[in-house]
Amino acid sequence: MTVSATLTSPPRQLPSRPLRIAILGATGAVGQELLVLLQERGFPVAELVPLASPRSAGQDLDWCGERIQVRPVGPAAFDGVDLVLASAGGSVSRQWAPVAVAAGAVVIDNSSAFRMDPTVPLVVPEVNPQAAFAHGGIIANPNCTTILLTLALAPLAARRPIRRVVISTYQSASGAGARAMEELRQLSRTVLDGGEPVSEVLPHSLAFNLFLHNSPLEASGYCEEELKMLHETRKIMGLPQLRLTATCVRVPVLRAHSEAVNIEFEEPFPVQEARALLAAAPGVELIENFETNRFPMPTDVTGRDAVAVGRIRQDLSDPHALELWLCGDQIRKGAALNAIQIAELLREPAATTPVPGGAA
Ligand SMILES: NC(=O)c1ccc[n+]([C@@H]2O[C@H](COP(=O)([O-])OP(=O)(O)OC[C@H]3O[C@@H](n4cnc5c(N)ncnc54)[C@H](OP(=O)(O)O)[C@@H]3O)[C@@H](O)[C@H]2O)c1
Repeated sequence: MTVSATLTSPPRQLPSRPLRIAILGATGAVGQELLVLLQERGFPVAELVPLASPRSAGQDLDWCGERIQVRPVGPAAFDGVDLVLASAGGSVSRQWAPVAVAAGAVVIDNSSAFRMDPTVPLVVPEVNPQAAFAHGGIIANPNCTTILLTLALAPLAARRPIRRVVISTYQSASGAGARAMEELRQLSRTVLDGGEPVSEVLPHSLAFNLFLHNSPLEASGYCEEELKMLHETRKIMGLPQLRLTATCVRVPVLRAHSEAVNIEFEEPFPVQEARALLAAAPGVELIENFETNRFPMPTDVTGRDAVAVGRIRQDLSDPHALELWLCGDQIRKGAALNAIQIAELLREPAATTPVPGGAA
């Protein structure tokens, strides 16, 4: 059953008055960034309701210079709430998003719970903003690596059809949440002190190490994260037949993901033309100096909105293919920022310009 079958019809747009906003997962890595970005972007908030599990209920959070108390999520938590920004994992969203929608709220969900539901829009505002308005109460925020990727793919796909994409990711600890970041800090200290690092949050120690992405493996041999990149990119870009293969790797970077991307087009794509398109693309910044060998690094984008792209070059093995490298702060553009941009779009539809090539 699709989720819309269970829901009433909320308004497609958000009211222009200041909103009552609940953050479900307010104590987590994404939840904390949502708090920062709502303030940074001056989003009109009438009241902020921070929700988490009973574990952190009662904990104080900083909101606009005041202390506000985290509440445990429960059936009455969404009464009078206009907008829920959910970042507490798939099972929590599956349980509470329909409750919030039934209470009259619009839910923008960071988990994977509803992303592939055909009745739920999967939105990157720079790529397929029109899709957001077809919601039935829930809008899904894509997987972080997918958001970063589509910002670079969409402007190129709009110029020449893509035949195939091959990606290798270099994903930071923060992609696995606040506890994984803390584990990387602690285990790095352990290794530097000559100790034996023992991981509890991630399946292996990430300190001075790397391993293939820890999401569950499917029968095909691909892990869930790699298949999310395939299916979500197809849905966002409206290219259901797109051929895409990914290898996802966790690396000992605290924050911000990187991706090596090979894009094969139906015809040759001059490098200069691709570079000009990416330099002008919304949400993308070019960091590229071949003379000094200076290209994007995770530290360039940490705490920043733009996805940095560089080292755009002809694939020497295929005249139809280009190679590029990108880095993006996946807690920010890969999660919290993208969610808030969707909310902004629902308040002011004219505010975001789509890149041609996204799905309606
Ligand atoms: N991290 C990223 O880069 C990223 C990017 C894109 C999407 N996402 C998605 O965003 C979601 C959150 O990720 P995260 O990295 O922020 O995780 P996190 O740091 O582990 O935070 C999880 C949050 O969910 C809350 N929570 C856990 N179980 C709950 C329950 N039963 N009821 C209510 N709240 C509960 C936690 O509250 P307590 O303090 O009470 O435990 C915490 O606030 C996940 O679905 C993740 O896949 C993450």
